[in-house]
Amino acid sequence: MPILTKPFTFVNVAASVDGKISDESRKQIKISGKEDFLRVDKLRAFADAIMVGIGTVISDNPSLTIKSEALRMERIRNGKTPNPLRVVVDSRLRTPSDSNVLNDEAETLLATTELADNERRAKLSKRARVEVFGNQKVDLKQLSRFLHDIGIERLMVEGGGTLINSMLREKLIDELNIYYGNIVIGGRTSPTIVDGSSFEFPIKLELLNFQRLGDGVYTRWRVLY
Ligand SMILES: NC(=O)c1ccc[n+]([C@@H]2O[C@H](COP(=O)([O-])OP(=O)(O)OC[C@H]3O[C@@H](n4cnc5c(N)ncnc54)[C@H](OP(=O)(O)O)[C@@H]3O)[C@@H](O)[C@H]2O)c1
Repeated sequence: MPILTKPFTFVNVAASVDGKISDESRKQIKISGKEDFLRVDKLRAFADAIMVGIGTVISDNPSLTIKSEALRMERIRNGKTPNPLRVVVDSRLRTPSDSNVLNDEAETLLATTELADNERRAKLSKRARVEVFGNQKVDLKQLSRFLHDIGIERLMVEGGGTLINSMLREKLIDELNIYYGNIVIGGRTSPTIVDGSSFEFPIKLELLNFQRLGDGVYTRWRVLY
């Protein structure tokens, strides 16, 4: 079997104790507190790229940048850009032109497919690098290899559950960082850490670390496949 060249890839999400990452409205919900924000900011600062699915861009409009100036300065001292590259997985280029992910605080790669409309492509190309990976859904293996080839060694995946499911299915995730906040969200249609269809066999994990943080628990798991 050929060895896949890909970045070291880790997920970071905040979930309720019942495994939900938002409620039925799919809008962003407060799950963690300031201690966890600091942890996530540090994790971002050690990443070369941060990836999300288009569902997350539409629901949360994240900027995916490092909030601490000290951490951005440290990256510059280490010869890096102030913020990691932002990567949006977006088959049809639905990323709104005014999304925070297209602001000028960091560079952005829109990973799309042949389905993308040429006009959207021309418009969004002014704000981001646009690259095609596959025909219908973004080919995540191709995208991972591309990121590796442009020098991305550490890739942070910040959701949502649909993208995380596909990344796990393609065996592209090495680690899961999950913060469980002290809330229960409930709801059959509330998004979870891993949505989409279930796997043929459950994916095994090895617990690497757990720690009380604020009012919740931070856990780190290695994916064993
Ligand atoms: N608590 C947290 O830490 C956290 C973090 C992030 C998100 N969230 C929540 O998660 C929800 C959004 O998650 P989501 O599952 O709806 O969306 P998502 O995972 O962010 O994006 C999924 C979309 O990506 C596109 N895509 C393209 N190629 C794909 C591929 N190969 N595999 C999978 N997806 C592909 C698809 O749309 P196209 O076909 O149109 O391309 C797909 O519907 C929101 O409620 C948000 O608030 C929570």
